[in-house]
Amino acid sequence: MSRPGTVLVLGTGQAGFQVAASLREEGFDGRVVLVGDEPGLPYQRPPLSKAYLTGKADANAVRLRPDKFFAEHRLELRAGERAARIDRAGRRVALASGEAIPYDHLVLALGARNRALPVPGAGLDGVAQLRTLGDAEALRGRLDAARQAVVVGAGFIGLEFAAVAAARGVAVTVVEAADRPMARSLSPAMSAFFRGAHERQDVRFVFGATVVRVLGGEGGGLATGVETADGRRFPADLVLVGIGVVPNAELAAEAGLAVADGIAVDEHLATDDPAISAIGDCARHPCRFAAAGTGPTRIESVQNAVDQARCVAARIAGRPAPYGAVPWFWSDQGALKLQIAGLATPHERAVVRGDPAGGAFSVFCFREGRLVGVESVNRPLDHVLARKLLANGIGLAPEQAADPRFDLKAHASVPRAA
Ligand code: NAI
Repeated sequence: MSRPGTVLVLGTGQAGFQVAASLREEGFDGRVVLVGDEPGLPYQRPPLSKAYLTGKADANAVRLRPDKFFAEHRLELRAGERAARIDRAGRRVALASGEAIPYDHLVLALGARNRALPVPGAGLDGVAQLRTLGDAEALRGRLDAARQAVVVGAGFIGLEFAAVAAARGVAVTVVEAADRPMARSLSPAMSAFFRGAHERQDVRFVFGATVVRVLGGEGGGLATGVETADGRRFPADLVLVGIGVVPNAELAAEAGLAVADGIAVDEHLATDDPAISAIGDCARHPCRFAAAGTGPTRIESVQNAVDQARCVAARIAGRPAPYGAVPWFWSDQGALKLQIAGLATPHERAVVRGDPAGGAFSVFCFREGRLVGVESVNRPLDHVLARKLLANGIGLAPEQAADPRFDLKAHASVPRAA
């Protein structure tokens, strides 16, 4: 690819910020413009459901970089501006304000938005979501006054929030459609462990339940609880909805790019238009860690956003390489630190290493006889070694993983498999 003069980045989340910063690290000297519809400086999302919610971090502490970083690196930040249309033939993007910004290369880092709860009453006061700094700010205020909360969805958002709320003395009920928490990402053994840990903090779970209505609305318009499909009612003065996300792919689809639950990209993270790349939560890429036959994968994580951004920045700067980083994730829920390496869903066999009763163990997951994912709680070394094993394709037998005397560290240092 010839080196473009102007790189326009749409989206100022982790991926959008990182591609701009990495372009400068890669020595790219052209114009870099960052356009995002959220106000203010780019910030980190992970603390929003943890330190920010508990009041340990303020808005400044979650900023990715201070104001001067953008000036010093000649990154033109256009915060609070919405991109309305991509003109591929003219190579420019029209903003909602009417202005048009030309590009030589366009990076779509548009992220995802929370799925709305599609039931009557979901718009009532007291029904909250958590993705943006604005959401977190509003939720923090509500949490101060809350006594009873219903969390809809036992995913990462729901459970991180539940841990914070329960620790503050709020009575928390989690209503989940599936039969266990974090089923999208976790093995049954790890789900069971987290269920028990939350229950010991007095969080109550209702599994296999669908919310059909948010109750309330009389008088002041406040939510007073939820009703599930089987007619049960759960009172609440705060309802937190965490039922997954929808990728922001509409701009790409309207511009004629291939989209299917995310913007389709190749192994270099290029769309079917070579002048446009897509990265992070909004992109679906061919992932060498996904199960055979599952097709391109969309990964929602900080690691994926950052590594894909670096990959695209290097390509724009003239150093192309296919994307192939090991996926990894983390979640802090109360005192528990969950770390996940690889993509373990689906798997046929899972073995435990460590001591679940003592609260420090890992689950090693195997698909077709190969290690595909490792979930660790309070065992950071296992996580680091798992990433090494997966990155280098080093084989491991389930019996070795389960054997506490087996030296995993030495094993992870063996030369890369052919
Ligand atoms: P999620 O996909 O992790 O969990 C959503 C949960 O809601 C699932 O358990 C699903 O079965 C359930 N669900 C879906 N529809 C439902 C319904 N109608 N009623 C009841 N339950 C329903 O998504 P979540 O927690 O909303 O997180 C949003 C995004 O933020 C994701 O991209 C997630 O990966 C990311 N995130 C990541 C964190 C981390 O890595 N530590 C922390 C917080 C969020």
